[in-house]
Amino acid sequence: MAPQPSSPASGTTSVLFVCLGNICRSPLAEGVFRHLVSEAGLDGRFAIDSAGTGAWHVGQPADPRSVQVAADHGVTLDGRARQVTGADLRDFDVVVAMDRENLATLEELSTASGGTARLCLLRSFDPGADGGEVPDPYYGGPHGFERVYRMVRSACEGLLRELRPPA
Ligand code: 4NP
Repeated sequence: MAPQPSSPASGTTSVLFVCLGNICRSPLAEGVFRHLVSEAGLDGRFAIDSAGTGAWHVGQPADPRSVQVAADHGVTLDGRARQVTGADLRDFDVVVAMDRENLATLEELSTASGGTARLCLLRSFDPGADGGEVPDPYYGGPHGFERVYRMVRSACEGLLRELRPPA
């Protein structure tokens, strides 16, 4: 869904998380970030969504392994997959890629569609990640999803520190 009219006038920052399929990593990042925002009492200050660069899973719920690992940590995932659009690159303030391939796709789409969003890698907000990526867990087992959860959680904490409005 397109974000509500955003900053600075409304004081809302819109954030779109993007991976390849929008069923494993980016729904998890969306859910974790929403959870952290809510815990911080900042619900009204952020519009949060996720999308995939690919269209294979459009309309599907998150992968059950992402739903499970999120639930294990008190996070609910209830969105449906969609493909990122050129309009997203104009409508959102910040578009956060899981890996460099996603980022390169977003950069091309942004150039082609007059994008204005700030494009970045999720793990760039994790001081311990050293510029790393969130690896695709799709073809692995459940341990990969727990590992991805921990990466996403640390990086989303850093992202919120970066984007939260001054107290
Ligand atoms: P995601 O994982 O990008 O984290 O949602 C994937 C899900 C599905 C596929 C690739 C990655 N796929 O090729 O179908």
